[in-house]
Amino acid sequence: MKKNIILTGDRPTGPLHLGHYRGSLVKRVELQDECEQFVMIADVQALTDNYEHPEKVRHNILEVLLDYLAVGIDPQKSTILVQSLVPQLFELTVYYLNLVTVNRALRNPTVKTEIKQKGYGDSTPLGFVAYPVSQAADITAFKATLVPVGEDQLPMIEQANEIVRTFNRLYNVDVLVEAQAVLTKTQRLPGTDGKTKMGKSLGNAIYLSDSADVLAKKVMNMYTDPDHIHVADPGKVEGNMVFTYLDVFDLQHDEVAELKEHYKRGGLGDVVIKKRLIEVLDELLDPMRKKRAEFANDKAALMGILHAGSARAREIAAQTLAQVRAAMKLDY
Ligand code: TRP
Repeated sequence: MKKNIILTGDRPTGPLHLGHYRGSLVKRVELQDECEQFVMIADVQALTDNYEHPEKVRHNILEVLLDYLAVGIDPQKSTILVQSLVPQLFELTVYYLNLVTVNRALRNPTVKTEIKQKGYGDSTPLGFVAYPVSQAADITAFKATLVPVGEDQLPMIEQANEIVRTFNRLYNVDVLVEAQAVLTKTQRLPGTDGKTKMGKSLGNAIYLSDSADVLAKKVMNMYTDPDHIHVADPGKVEGNMVFTYLDVFDLQHDEVAELKEHYKRGGLGDVVIKKRLIEVLDELLDPMRKKRAEFANDKAALMGILHAGSARAREIAAQTLAQVRAAMKLDY
């Protein structure tokens, strides 16, 4: 059987958080042993909604790389690349743009939601509407067959596959390959405030790089049950973020079940369950902090990883691009 090829990526607009960890980072660490994996730091995509703040994107390239190394994405096993260092992707994007209608681009549900969230209204940058097309170039350049993502990225894969089918049909070739999403079975992790998902811009995230102090403060401020005022009061477990997180991260399921019963009966204070969650999360994050510290001071080595990965990515993307150009009669 042919080996699966994986392409995943993140916009470097901030450090990665526990939602990313549950969403796709764990999967990537697993899959890098079985598959050929490309992990992209999507700086050009990040600029589509941060073009006024290039310094922010620049800074977060190394933050995201450190997060990758901290969770165990191994540059010996995975090719870690920077999108802007692979110019072939942008040539592919230009060709693909012909295959997508303006209306189709505007119908992408994730793009629609983001346009609303950002309040772009009639001032939506064209580059932003087109970013799924650029993402299709990311995926197809490496002929990825699997893309581990969170569910908000499903419309991107659907749109990429539409482009693949249109291209192959139109030019009567078998050059581009359709990709499949790999969704984690775990539910999306809500933010510490209990509202919607954990997000960089929502101020409700716990970052993989948070120090023990910062982590403790965030957990102590987590949303629990607003009606649980006195320790003796019965408390609610549903919608209580401390229990939601314990369900996800605490492996002692029996003990968590007992704590829940106790909390519901009354007599168990928020501080006790929060302290437990702090311990559980510290156990997860501490090895990451140590790994991060090992690499953090060697900028040259970090840039070396990115340059080596991007060089390898350029070679592969160039092969696909040559096939695409030939299919479009551009092989002069
Ligand atoms: N759009 C993704 C995000 O916002 C990042 C990304 C860019 C990506 N290119 C990709 C993800 C290719 C998977 C495959 O998180």
